[in-house]
This record gives sequence, C-alpha cells and structure tokens, in this order.
Amino acid sequence: MSKVAIVTGGTRGIGEAISLALKELGYTVAANYAGNEEKAKAFTEKTGIASFKWDVGDHQACLDGVAQVAEALGPVDIVVNNAGITRDGVLAKMSFDDWNEVMRINLGGCFNMAKATFGGMRERGWGRIVNIGSINGQAGQYGQVNYAAAKSGIHGFTKALAQEGAKYGVTVNAIAPGYIDTDMVAAVPPAVLEKIVAKIPVGRLGQAHEIARGVAFLCSEDGGFVTGSTLSINGGQHMY
Ligand code: CAA
Repeated sequence: MSKVAIVTGGTRGIGEAISLALKELGYTVAANYAGNEEKAKAFTEKTGIASFKWDVGDHQACLDGVAQVAEALGPVDIVVNNAGITRDGVLAKMSFDDWNEVMRINLGGCFNMAKATFGGMRERGWGRIVNIGSINGQAGQYGQVNYAAAKSGIHGFTKALAQEGAKYGVTVNAIAPGYIDTDMVAAVPPAVLEKIVAKIPVGRLGQAHEIARGVAFLCSEDGGFVTGSTLSINGGQHMY
C-alpha cells in the first residue's frame, strides 16, 4: 500500500504543486483546503487527487479531518503544512484580528496537524513532516509582524519537533520559500513587488514547482537523514 500524504492548502498555488509532486513520488495524496470549493473541485477533477475541506486553524477540525483522510485512504505518514494566509499592514494599522488569524492559521495549523498525525507516525516508525516557512520568517519584512512572527515560529517548531521525532524515524523539516509566483505574492502592490524582485539575485520570482521539488526530496526515502533543517529556496534573496 502506498504511503498517504496530506498537503494543507493543497489545491492551489505552492500547495497544488506539492500535491502533484508527492503524487509523482507514488504517494496517495489528500489535498486539504479551507474555502475555495470551486477551485478544489476543479483540482480534484484535473489531478485525481482527493480534496478534503477543513480549517487548519481549528484544532478539532484537524483531528476530525485527519481521521476522515485515514478512513478514506489509510493512516497518514506524511504531512506538509503549507496552508497560510497574509494580513499585511504596518503595526500601527494592524488589528488584533489580523495578528490572531495569521498566528492561528499559519503557526497554529502546524501544531494542530502535528497533534493529529505525529503519534501514528511514531508508532509505525516512519513519518515525514515538512513545514512551509518563509524568507520573511528568517529576515523579517516591513508590514508583516504577524506573518514574520508566525513563520519564524514555524522554524523553531520544526527544530523542536525534529528532536522528538528522530529516534522514531519521523523527520521534521522546513522549507523557506522566497517570493514565488502565486496569488499571495500577486496581492503585493506592484510598485512594492517591483522593488522586492529587484533585490532577488536570480532576477525573477520563483515558481511553485521549484518549492515542490524540495518538499518531494524531504518526503522521500532518500531524505531520511535530513531532519531539523530549513531549506531556503529564494533565488539568493537571503543567504542564511
Ligand atoms: N522599508 C522601509 N520603509 C518602507 C518599506 C520598507 N521595506 N516599505 C514601505 N516603506 C515605507 C514607505 O516608503 C512609506 O514611507 P512614507 O510614508 O515616509 O512615504 C511608508 O512605509 C508607508 O508605505 P506604504 O505606502 O506601502 O504603506 P501602506 O500602509 O499603504 O502599505 C504594506 C503597507 C501593506 C505593508 C505594503 O507596503 C505592502 O504590501 N508591502 C509588502 C509586504 C510584503 O512583502 N508582503 C509579502 C506577501 S507574500 C508572502 O508573504 C509570501 C512569502 O512568504 C514571501
């Protein structure tokens, strides 16, 4: 039986590319999504990858969602915590709700999904967790105290959980993407984005599949000796 992977936010953008890359590896993939039903339906029709709806920021919804995936496809061996949102704004204009939603979904989602799956991986002696961080969690970003804090938290979460998983065959790693050509980055005002791209040594935005290949490696058998690491895929924008 092939291994089962959940990709959160797995029907769009970077998540869609990750779902496809893991399917290519021979894994059975469940793509989680939170809201865009139409896009999820089109994704499932196009790729044959099942999609499951729940909010990763909701603890109980993660426990229930993982149980539903396990019942449909089998025990979950791989989790890619990719779901994330932005609520950008300078601190002076940022509401508590903007702060809280980003922490709840981007960082809370990693905790919730790990709680729902880590025990099973440990019992079966094999698992892969990949958390999608961000260059902005490593370097900070003007107008993103919420997002940078959550993503930076993901990097710490990864290193701590990696220590707990290592002796059970469960690796936990992070990828820190730079600016990737997705809807999220397209929402940055064009004049601001132009200045950001000018600072990327490779001279362009990244592509979703360039992140997905990194995730696929970390989720593969060959990735078994890599744990607690952060792979930066950012066109040289932040060499860390
Ligand atoms: N450093 C220093 N000053 C800056 C700055 C920067 N990077 N960016 C803006 N400023 C200054 C401006 O020059 C301006 O100064 P003055 O008032 O003296 O003219 C002031 O800050 C206000 O700037 P804005 O007009 O841009 O302010 P705003 O309130 O309209 O918008 C913002 C603020 C929403 C944060 C907007 O600047 C923005 O969207 N920035 C981009 C944030 C970003 O990169 N988000 C990434 C999203 S994608 C993602 O997060 C994926 C990933 O993982 C990489």
